[in-house]
Amino acid sequence: MLRDDDVNHEEQKQILELGMKFWKDRYYSRPFEGPQAVAVLFDKPSTRTRSSFSIGVAELGGYPLVIDKSGSQLGRGEPVADTSRVLTRMASAIVWRTFGQELVEEMAQYATVPVVNALTDEFHPCQVLADFLTMAQHRGGVDALKGQTIAYLGDGANNMANSYLLAGATAGMNVRIGAPNGYLPANQIVEKAQQIAAENGGEILVTTDAREAATDADCLFTDTWVSMGEESEYAIRSKPFWKYQVNDELMALAKPDALFQHCLPAYRGKEVTASVIDGPQSVVWDEAENRLHAQKALLAWLVAWQREDSSLLGECATQH
Ligand code: CP
Repeated sequence: MLRDDDVNHEEQKQILELGMKFWKDRYYSRPFEGPQAVAVLFDKPSTRTRSSFSIGVAELGGYPLVIDKSGSQLGRGEPVADTSRVLTRMASAIVWRTFGQELVEEMAQYATVPVVNALTDEFHPCQVLADFLTMAQHRGGVDALKGQTIAYLGDGANNMANSYLLAGATAGMNVRIGAPNGYLPANQIVEKAQQIAAENGGEILVTTDAREAATDADCLFTDTWVSMGEESEYAIRSKPFWKYQVNDELMALAKPDALFQHCLPAYRGKEVTASVIDGPQSVVWDEAENRLHAQKALLAWLVAWQREDSSLLGECATQH
């Protein structure tokens, strides 16, 4: 899975249902028993993605082969295609956090095992699966996601905004992006989200009005205003975002039982106030834990289809 729209509505539901099963029973399925290796590559820092894939692969019965850029030949200029050809001979899946989306696309082109995007500059599909699993847990199940209204406030041109647009549209949600001019999502992402939303019964709203985005939403999301690698620009980049800070006032515009989520790491007093992220509507720790369950579900689902192993997914397989 390289981007959120690589799966359709039914497939996304299957993965999330499987995520619910792993949430209830961490050893629900062990498709990497052996152990088989899963290569987990990092070109950028990580706490949640690194720990959840490492622990998750182990809980799936496998061996997580975690490789940092500085410790691999990839970091010294070995072609992505050659790296892919090597890893695909040894590992049962490849997970990669890197920069450009075209890099994971190239890795997948030369691999015969599933390749998972663990964050690129364009998309963060694993995070959004975890976020939707969190909503499902708090809303009574995966079926409850359709029709929910989610609002993302902040940098509307970053990977999280792109992923909420595509994955939310796939889920049949109403997706709102509240962001300042200059930080709005690219037209091609919005148009793609609108097309998917039309198929699944949701609506897409992109606005510069944070209050419009937040009003009556079921869940508010935000992310750091400065993505990885842009930290030196914090003072300049943060200026347009203050109106989009998720604070008590903005939270009060959402539904009374609205949830708050943040993919983390969070900067209290910047994109979110401490009163919100540490408050009663925040589910950020469930969200962080759900990286584990959602990614195990994704890996299990991907290898099940690759191996044509219908027993692994049970009823899900017959619905495919
Ligand atoms: N949300 C997220 O991807 O966290 P890490 O950068 O710590 O992996």
